[in-house]
Amino acid sequence: MADTSRLRKPVIAGNWKMYKTQREARDFFAEFQPLVAAATHCEIVVAPTFTALAASVEAAKGSAIGIAAQDVYWASEGAFTGEVSPRMLVEAGCRAVIIGHSERRQFFGETDESANRKVKAAVAAGLTPILCVGELLAEREAGDTQSVLERQFRGSLAALTTAEFSRIIMAYEPVWAIGTGRTATPEIAAEAHKFLRDLAARSFSAKDAASLRILYGGSVKPENIKGLMAQAEIDGALVGGASLDARQFAAIVNY
Ligand code: 13P
Repeated sequence: MADTSRLRKPVIAGNWKMYKTQREARDFFAEFQPLVAAATHCEIVVAPTFTALAASVEAAKGSAIGIAAQDVYWASEGAFTGEVSPRMLVEAGCRAVIIGHSERRQFFGETDESANRKVKAAVAAGLTPILCVGELLAEREAGDTQSVLERQFRGSLAALTTAEFSRIIMAYEPVWAIGTGRTATPEIAAEAHKFLRDLAARSFSAKDAASLRILYGGSVKPENIKGLMAQAEIDGALVGGASLDARQFAAIVNY
């Protein structure tokens, strides 16, 4: 369990995607909180839908569980129908926000450039961005994993100051492992994480790279979390499907 040899405090985050009503969110927290009440070895984050944010913040009050949004727009207000601003998320009680998830890139036109604007706006508002990167299966098979990660890293984090960079969390989510039951092996994930950390050292500073938390995402389950967390390069997980079930997500938190 709690392993004090780690340089970086792990983060176990759940991305609920487009699941759970407010009522379902409340039921989840009622079951989940007692199961993780003793967990001090990691930070716990849950990212519900926009409509369930306030209910989740209320339900998680008094616990160490942080609530995150799944996306944000970069302007602070304006004529942008359907969008939500960083300061609105802060007011709703969010501490963090997922940015650049592959599903946003795949289905909703997210680009490295839009992710970059969102990261900067989120940091400016005091939110912790959880920036997602990851290659498609075809890109991995073509041997392009590193060039894709480098393009996403540079594009999404362009023109960030070192101070801004020190506020972010990254998530490596190989697209071929998301919702497929096909997890990257701990070694494959660790290799990508190391590549991203080296990029961080070159682009920002060795110190910032050493403190950057990089989460792995893609079919993380109670059965494979231990092996993933045994890798020093893996600082936590961004969990989709298994975060919807209180017991399963608690088992991942208590790896
Ligand atoms: P799964 O855990 O369902 O594969 O989803 C991963 C993910 O996309 C988390 O953001």
